[in-house]
Parts: sequence; structure tokens; C-alpha cells
Amino acid sequence: MTTQSRFFTTPIYYASGKPHIGHIYATTLLNVLKNHYEHRGFDTRTLTGMDEHGEKVAEAAAQHGLTPQKYVDDLAASWRHSFETFGLSFDVFMRTTSKEHRKNVQQILTTCHENGDIYFGEHEGHYCVACEDFLPLSEMDAEKNCLIHKRKTEPRKEGNYFFKTTKYREQLKELIKDGKVVANPRYINELLAMIEVLDRDLSISRPKSRTSWGIELPFDKEHVAYVWFDALPNYVTGVGGVEQARTSTYWQNCTHILGKDILKFHGIFWPAICLSLKIKVPKLLVTGWLLSGGHKMSKSLGNVVSPDDFLPFGADTFTNIIFRGANPGEDLDVTIRSALERFNADLANGIGNLLSRTLGMLEKYCDKRIPPFHKDFLMESEKLLAVQAEQLVPYVCTAFDEYRLSDALQKIWELIGLTDKYIAEQKPWSLLKVETPENKIRLENVLAHSVGVLRIVGFLTAAFFPEKMKTLLESLGENTSSLKGSLQNLTRFYDTRVGYQFGTAPRLYDRIDIELEMAKFPAEASGQAAEPTEKNKKPKAPKAGTDAPPSGESKDGKASSLIAIEDFARVEIRVGTVVNAELVEGSDKLLKLQVSMGELGTRQIFSGIREWVKPEEIVNHKVLVVSNLAPRKMRFGTSEGMLLSAETLDGTICPVSVAEHLKEGTRLS
Ligand code: MSP
Repeated sequence: MTTQSRFFTTPIYYASGKPHIGHIYATTLLNVLKNHYEHRGFDTRTLTGMDEHGEKVAEAAAQHGLTPQKYVDDLAASWRHSFETFGLSFDVFMRTTSKEHRKNVQQILTTCHENGDIYFGEHEGHYCVACEDFLPLSEMDAEKNCLIHKRKTEPRKEGNYFFKTTKYREQLKELIKDGKVVANPRYINELLAMIEVLDRDLSISRPKSRTSWGIELPFDKEHVAYVWFDALPNYVTGVGGVEQARTSTYWQNCTHILGKDILKFHGIFWPAICLSLKIKVPKLLVTGWLLSGGHKMSKSLGNVVSPDDFLPFGADTFTNIIFRGANPGEDLDVTIRSALERFNADLANGIGNLLSRTLGMLEKYCDKRIPPFHKDFLMESEKLLAVQAEQLVPYVCTAFDEYRLSDALQKIWELIGLTDKYIAEQKPWSLLKVETPENKIRLENVLAHSVGVLRIVGFLTAAFFPEKMKTLLESLGENTSSLKGSLQNLTRFYDTRVGYQFGTAPRLYDRIDIELEMAKFPAEASGQAAEPTEKNKKPKAPKAGTDAPPSGESKDGKASSLIAIEDFARVEIRVGTVVNAELVEGSDKLLKLQVSMGELGTRQIFSGIREWVKPEEIVNHKVLVVSNLAPRKMRFGTSEGMLLSAETLDGTICPVSVAEHLKEGTRLS
């Protein structure tokens, strides 16, 4: 029998700033999928990496006073480190500045050029450097500013090379309709709608006079490849190039993980390039947005949840909230508080508690040994538990094949709940009060069933929580030296390690004191600053270069995410002068500010700007403050408002400044 293969990829991330929660989400999903399929005996390969070329990167490098190469080298090292701190791994860390990638892109360009799929043409329009694209009118305001990046577009007229995307439109439509492109069906119609309005070919080059930070076109030395034509082929570089993709079993079983904002690039342009290259069109697993307080995360809204904020509680806190709450493809609200609540409910009180109470009773009543099943004395509820546990294995495998990871976890936790209930009903602790042979059998049966469930749950959830589940399984005597193929052997509930004697019972997860922990976070970091209203629950705009309407927004641009004037009127923004600013001991994020606000007196405000602003740089400066925000108690004191700040392209945060003549207390309208 040949081993089946699976190749999973994340988008390669733009080289800028630090990884945010969306990047950690995609890379965690990559790890969970790899683990699961490996546990089913598949041969797997994973790829993540960095998208390092383009005008935007060159611009950011210049802002930092670095060469683009030095800039991306430093970033790649720090991103790898961030992934490691989350316990995330990958087989390939692709960098688009690598030699092998450059060679691959140039080969692809040559092949498509020779196929007649690349031609030269004129391009005139308004260019947004942040989007790295010419924008249609619908994506700019009246002043021709980019709606997403709020920055001026530049009128440009330039000669570019184009890839004949439209040539493949009909062929692609058929593939999409046949379910051969999108793995999670909810995005099939969205993609079909995009292809329906596709009326232009993809511009795939930029003149070197504009930027030379890219891969040179093999057939015209005056141009470099457009970032997306440089980035998308990275997946093929990951299997060794186009020739290898034709035969590679990884490529035949390749699934790209991507956010819905970059669906057009992956669902139209990339498949068209694959068709031109005559290689298999990969499947797409489209993920939704992680929201905070009902909004898309944004620094100016003050609702960004940083991935680092989860680390003190362990990466499992993050993994649990992102997969328990929604299947990939759906949007999900994530705040630190909601993650901690779920952690307590699912991990500490759920599986952690089931393990510790089971091991506790085994220690007390069975000399720390796994008891046998007494099959002649099984109760109906026990037989049912065993059947449900055995059926859980194929259920979880099917759910994974359909990328319904939340459904898988939901079912697993249902079994944990049933087992808790069963133990509570059987009251094993009361059985030995009267020591009869029957009671001993009953007691052993209850504990053996509890072990049986823990074993199945441990193997099934090891894809999500590898370290802790290894600990759990080892305490039950299971061999965890390699989990490869472990789910294939997980067919019989009764196959526990009867007689195995454990040493010290491990504690998997300790309950978190949520109020105590929340007090340590500024409102901004905990994702609490922005309260959702019914009108603005959805993300606002699609990302660079896509025409896809974001959820909640109609195709004609009349966004349901727009707010009414009354909503804005509820927010009171006033001018203040910072009269004192100091560092906050015990916080590497916060500055403590005293802001004089005219008739409102002096307000104390904790602001998460310490990384970017020194106290002495802000004292005596006029600032803008949301003055009618409910006061927020924090570990360091009460915060009586929120400082308005802006985020620059490279992720730097800068308090918004105000004209000097505006008096303290002046209200903005
Ligand atoms: N460089 C391109 C991808 C090229 S792939 C050939 C890019 N990079 S990115 O860094 O901007 O985004 C990477 C991924 O992060 C995208 O899939 C995007 O959808 C995802 N996310 C960005 N913000 C997100 C959330 N708030 N929630 C979930 N994922 C989101 O695009």
C-alpha cells in the first residue's frame, strides 16, 4: 500500500513588523493539520515563509535606514523565533529572496512567456504602494486616497507585462464549479462571483526605474516581477520547481491555507498560472477573520489582541480559542478574556480535571495502576460510552477531511462532558465504603472507562495540544515516542495499558484567575476597548488588490459595516495637554499620562505606546482623547480615557497631534 501524502502551506507573510494574530492563526492551523494527518499515517510536508520583495518592503527598509536585504534578513530571523515561541514548526521556511526561489520564478516566467501567456502593454491609473496595485475607482475616495490604507495614490502610466488570466477564465470556472479549487464550500460562490467580473489580465511586472527590489524578468532586464507573481510561485519552489510539481505526490495533494482577503490571488491568478504551467491546480482552504470585540483588529481602534499576550498562559490557550470557537472559514471574535474563559472551561475544568480526578482515584484505590475492564459486568451506560468513544475517531477524521476542526473539538468535548456526568453518577469514591467484590468490580470498571475515554481523547487532540496530550498519554502508559499512525491503531476502546503503574500524576492545566490576569492588561491589549455595536460588527474593507466584498458588505459598496452619524456622535473626542508622563513599573507596554482637559480637569490615562514614545517626548504636547469612555480599573490604577494614535506603514504607533491653538477641553465634531 502506498503512503498517502499531504502538502499544506500558509500564505508567505509580508516582511514587516512582527507577526500578528492572523499570522499565528494560519501557522497554527498548518501545524494542527500536519499533526493530524501524520497521526493518521500520512506523509506530510508543510511550508510557511516570508514575502520579501516589492516597493513596500524597499520603502520600509529605507525608513529603517537599512538595505532591503538586511531588513528582510533581520525580520525573517525574528519571525522564525516568534513561531518557535508558539511551539510552531514547518518543513520549509520559504523566503522569496532565496536563490532557489529566484530561479524558480524566472523559469516560470520563461515558460509562461514561451507559452504566449505573457505580453507587453500600457498601464495607466492610480497606484497605491501599500496595496502594490493600481486601484479601481471603487477602492479610492474623491481625493484618490486608497480607502484601505488612507494614503494618497500616485497617478502612474507605465509599460508593464501582463499575464493572460482571462484566457483561462472559462476553464477555471468549470474547475471551481466542480469543487476542484476551493476546499471549504462556502467560498465557492464568492470565487465564482469574482471570476464573473474578471475583465483584465494581471499586470506582472514593475519597471526597475520604479523599484529594483524584485526578481528580474528573464526576457526584459528593465523590469522586475510584480510581488504577487513573485510570491505565488513560492509554493512550487517548496516542492523543488515546476518539473518536480508535475510528479511530486506532495503537489498532487497540496492545500493552500489563505485568508479570505487574498482569495482572488489564490483562486484566480494562481490557478491560471498553474494551468499555463500544466501543473495541478491546488486546493484552497480559506480562513475567516479573527475579530476583536466584533471588529476587525486595528491599532487605531485600540482592539488589537497581540499573539504575545497569550504566551504567559501557554500557546494552547490560543489554539483552543481559535479552533473551538469556529471552523476555519468563519469569522471569530477573540479577546484575551474569551480565550481565558474557554481555557478554564475546556482545558482546566474539562480535560485537565478529568485527568487529575481519574489519576487521583487510581492513586487512592488502585495503587496507581490502570485497572482492567470487567466485561461481564458492564452497564448500558458504559457500553454506550465505549461505542461513542470508538465512533469519535472516524468522526474526527471526517471532520478534518472537511476542515471542520471546531466540529471535531465540539464532539470530543461532548464525550468529556458525558464522562464527567457518568463519573458523577457512579460515585466511585463511595463504592469502597462497603468493600465487596462487586463494588471493587464496579469501581474498576468506572475508572477503566474514564481511562479509556482519556486515551482516545488524548490521541485525537494531540494534533491541537501536542505537548500536554503527550504528557496525558504517558501518564496512562501509552507510547508517545512517535505518534505517526497512532490514529490508525485507535480502533478499540478497550485497548488500554491494563496494569501500567504511573509515577507522579501530572497536572495538565491550572485554572486561571481571570480577573487577576485581566487587570494586568491595558484595555487596548485585552481587546476590550472597542465594544461591538449591531451596526459595525464586521470588518470594513477588503485587502490590497481584491475586489471581494468583505462579509457584511454588498457588491455595490454600500457597506453594512458603515456606522450611522448617531453612533459617531456618541463618541466624545477632546483636546488635552499631556502634563506628565511616566513609565509604568511591571508593564513593558504602558505609559501613565496625566492629561489636562480644560473643564474636565486632569485625567489619568494608561496608554500602550511605550514601545514607540518616550515619556519626555509627549509631555507638553496636545493630544486627542476619547473622553467619555467608561473608566477602566487596571492593576496599576484607573484609566480615564483613551489616547488616539495612528499606525504608520511599518507598524509604528504615533499619538495623533493637534494644532496648538486648539484649547484644552475642545470637543471634536
Ligand atoms: N504576502 C501576502 C500573501 C502572499 S501568499 C503567496 C499577504 N501577507 S499578509 O502578511 O498580509 O497576510 C497573511 C495572512 O494573514 C493572510 O491570509 C491574511 O488573510 C491573514 N490575516 C491578516 N489579518 C487577519 C486577521 N485579523 N484574522 C485572520 N487572518 C488575517 O497577504
